[in-house]
Amino acid sequence: MNVLVTGGAGFLGSWLCEKLVQKKYNVYCLDNLSSGKTTNIDSLRKEKNFEFIRHDIISPFGTEEKFDIIYHLACPAAPFQYQKTPVNTLLTNSAGSLNVLELARKNDCPVFISSTSEVYGDPDIVPTPETHRGYVSPIGIRSCYDEGKRYSEALFKAYERQYGIDTRIVRIFNTYGPKIRGDGMYGRVIPNFIRQVLKNEDITIYGDGNQTRSFCYVEDLIRAFILVGESEIARGEIFNIGNPHEITVNELADTMIEITGAKSKKIHLPLPEDDPKRRCPDINKITQTFGWKPEVSLKEGLQRTIEWIKTN
Ligand SMILES: NC(=O)c1ccc[n+]([C@@H]2O[C@H](COP(=O)([O-])OP(=O)(O)OC[C@H]3O[C@@H](n4cnc5c(N)ncnc54)[C@H](O)[C@@H]3O)[C@@H](O)[C@H]2O)c1
Repeated sequence: MNVLVTGGAGFLGSWLCEKLVQKKYNVYCLDNLSSGKTTNIDSLRKEKNFEFIRHDIISPFGTEEKFDIIYHLACPAAPFQYQKTPVNTLLTNSAGSLNVLELARKNDCPVFISSTSEVYGDPDIVPTPETHRGYVSPIGIRSCYDEGKRYSEALFKAYERQYGIDTRIVRIFNTYGPKIRGDGMYGRVIPNFIRQVLKNEDITIYGDGNQTRSFCYVEDLIRAFILVGESEIARGEIFNIGNPHEITVNELADTMIEITGAKSKKIHLPLPEDDPKRRCPDINKITQTFGWKPEVSLKEGLQRTIEWIKTN
């Protein structure tokens, strides 16, 4: 089986590549290294069934290789990063997704995209089911990402309707684990907090900290990716993937302090524009379809992530 993973040197992509290499597939990892790192895939590059291709998916990707499935993950994912280069974020989700779909059309193979819970914007139904249409600003600071992903999803459905392409869409809710980037503009809430508690610095919380999030451990998520990617029943479907255990950002900070015994205090900064108040997935569809549910608790997952960040 020949599998192409775009964004394969990133946090989620490198975990996916690792699991696919273990399954003995021939894995082609395409990445422009804008936020991905070669250290994420160093161990895989020694394997015969793994190949790294440095390429920006905004440009068409020509290859003689015949792919049996494409996982399309390439996209800036951290808010500071995607907001710093919003045009690039939109182009990755438009031209980039178009190039991936053309490749799937040429190969006549299933194509999977990692969309996001951000397509729901600030939803009025929480936990949010896949049927929710989203409440998103087309001109807000996050629009390059949330509207970009909405466009990608629309393009996937258009290719399915017009050309009969086998598409699978997953909407990911916050995911964390080893290999997540915590430096500079790539930081997301969990690695940012971990960096702060490990240095006994104050934990910076945007807003009053009563906004909620739900956090899924990376290995749980990747298990779901492969189920959706490989099961015929997932053809044409959309699945939320995430952990429905909802906690406030304040509670997340308190849990970090408890686990590490840090002396950090919480400080509050102004809430960024368009920050959703609640975010929690309704995972009934994926649970009923595959029996999938997250297995790693937040404390266990945080401990593994903290250990990894300490040693890396
Ligand atoms: N991690 C999460 O919590 C989360 C939540 C929702 C959605 N997602 C989605 O999952 C995917 C992976 O996210 P991640 O958390 O691993 O982020 P990441 O930044 O670690 O990975 C994204 C990868 O895509 C690559 N990339 C970006 N633009 C590219 C381009 N134009 N051409 C080629 N490669 C490009 C980057 O270099 C990076 O390796 C993204 O599509 C993201 O939108 C992630």
